[in-house]
Amino acid sequence: MTPELLAQGARRVAKRLDEKPASTDSGGRDASYGRIHKQDELDLAHGRILYLEDVSVSFDGFKAINNLSLDIAPGELRCIIGPNGAGKTTLMDIITGKTRPDAGRVFFGSTIDLLRHNEPEIAQLGIGRKFQKPTVFENLSVFENLELALKTPKSVRASVFFRLDSAQSDRLAHVLDTIHLADSMRTQAGQLSHGQKQWLEIGMLLMQDPKLLLLDEPVAGMTDLETERTAELFLSLKGQHSLMVVEHDMGFIQTISDIVTVLCDGAVLAQGTLEQVQSDERVIEVYLGR
Ligand SMILES: Nc1ncnc2c1ncn2[C@@H]1O[C@H](COP(=O)(O)OP(=O)(O)O)[C@@H](O)[C@H]1O
Ligand SMILES: [Mg+2]
Repeated sequence: MTPELLAQGARRVAKRLDEKPASTDSGGRDASYGRIHKQDELDLAHGRILYLEDVSVSFDGFKAINNLSLDIAPGELRCIIGPNGAGKTTLMDIITGKTRPDAGRVFFGSTIDLLRHNEPEIAQLGIGRKFQKPTVFENLSVFENLELALKTPKSVRASVFFRLDSAQSDRLAHVLDTIHLADSMRTQAGQLSHGQKQWLEIGMLLMQDPKLLLLDEPVAGMTDLETERTAELFLSLKGQHSLMVVEHDMGFIQTISDIVTVLCDGAVLAQGTLEQVQSDERVIEVYLGR
C-alpha cells in the first residue's frame, strides 16, 4: 500500500469519527468496548471494503496472479488496467470465489474472510459481478428482468405468487431511472441495443444492492454515446457502492477514474492517478506503448 493510500484511509476514518454524535469525555461506549461484530457483518472501520494480501494462483505452473496486494476504500471507484493476460479477470475470479488462490488473504471489510466462502455466499454477502457478455433474459421485458433479479431460487419456483412489496417497487423504479431504461421498461430485452442490455444487466445487479460491484470490460462494443452514458452511470453509483472496473478504453478511464491500478504479470505494476501511471516508464513499456 502506498503512503498516499494509507493517508487517504486515515482521512476517511477521521471523517467518519467526526460524523459521530458527540459523546462523553471518556469517549462513551465506543471507546470502552471493542465493537462486537456479528459474523459476516461488513466492518469498514479500517477504511477499506476489499483487501487482498500476497495473493498468488498458478494454472499448470504458470503464475497468473503473483503476490498481488490491493485494497479498495468504501465508495471508491477503482479502475484496473493492464495488458491482456495480466490477470485482471483472474483477480475478479478470486474475489468472487470462482477461483481459489494458492496463497494469500482476501477480505471483505476487515472481518469477512472471502476464502472461507463459496461463490453464491459471496454474492449474498454483497459482491456483484458483471461479466463481459450480457446475460439478460431476451424474452422477458426490462421490468421482468429486474423483477427476476430480486427472486431467490426458492421464490422463482413459487413465482406465480411472487409480488413486489412497496420497498422493492421503489427500488425497481429507482434502478430503472439509474440505468436510463425507465422509458423502455415494457420493451423485450432482446430488442435492446448492446449498450442497453449491458445497463439492464447492471440494473439486475443493482436490484440486489451490492456493496461492491466488479465490472469486466463494461464498455467493450459500446458506441461512443453509450460509453459516455455508462461513465455517467458509474459516477452516479460511486459513493453508494464500491466499484472495481476493468477497461481498456482510456477515454472512459479518464472520465471515471480516481485511482488507477496497473496490473502486469499478475501483480501491481503501478498505481496512482491516470496521469501518474500514464507517465510511468514501466507502464509505457508494457502497456501503453510509445
Ligand atoms: N482457468 C484457467 N486455466 C488456465 N489458465 C488460465 C485460467 N484463467 C486464466 N488463465 C491464464 O491466466 C493468465 C491471466 O488471464 P486473465 O486473468 O484472463 O487476464 P486478463 O483478464 O488480464 O486479460 C492468462 O495467461 C490466462 O491464459
Ligand atoms: Mg480479462
